[in-house]
Amino acid sequence: MVSKIAVFASGSGSNFEAIAQAVQDGRIQNAEISLLVTDKDQVYALERAKKFDIETKTFLLKNFEDKIAYEKAILEVLSEKEIDFIVLAGYMKLIGESLLSEYEGRMINIHPSILPAFKGKDAIAMALEYGVRYTGVSIHWVDSGMDTGKIIEQDVVRVDKDDTYQTLAEKIHKVEHVLYPKVINEILNK
Ligand code: GAR
Repeated sequence: MVSKIAVFASGSGSNFEAIAQAVQDGRIQNAEISLLVTDKDQVYALERAKKFDIETKTFLLKNFEDKIAYEKAILEVLSEKEIDFIVLAGYMKLIGESLLSEYEGRMINIHPSILPAFKGKDAIAMALEYGVRYTGVSIHWVDSGMDTGKIIEQDVVRVDKDDTYQTLAEKIHKVEHVLYPKVINEILNK
């Protein structure tokens, strides 16, 4: 069976591209990315989707009465496209009850820290600020909390004394781009 994936992103979309590339190369098997969902227009993730000829949909929260209506509109599209699995890749909104009740157990997230350390936005800056010598990447199931779901996989990244936000972010992204496709393939083909 081929799983139909929707990737959700809010920004650059480098993880989205790494996943799309892995599907194309056969490192993620029995899957297709049927949709990219963004919560912002004019984000670079949308450009990356063109390269892979992946359909995109943008939902702006401000165009809906509330978060429930916003998620209901997303759910309608997911249902139309018969999406089996959701991959959050830099999607910076908490998942609400309506999306969760439909997709809990079929939705994963990546976070740039060794959870439960540095939950929330800008985990990379928090790790630098705190002065930890090791940080890393976590992939977890999505639940109703912020970066609180059950951990699937983690990998560590060394923080060197001369690391800046940019050099540390690059190291973390490099690990993410290998780990996320690997985990997605394992989950979809176990
Ligand atoms: C990634 O580093 C991801 O781990 C992080 O956003 C970045 C998105 O980069 N996610 C979170 O912080 C979630 N709390 P990308 O748009 O280049 O894939």
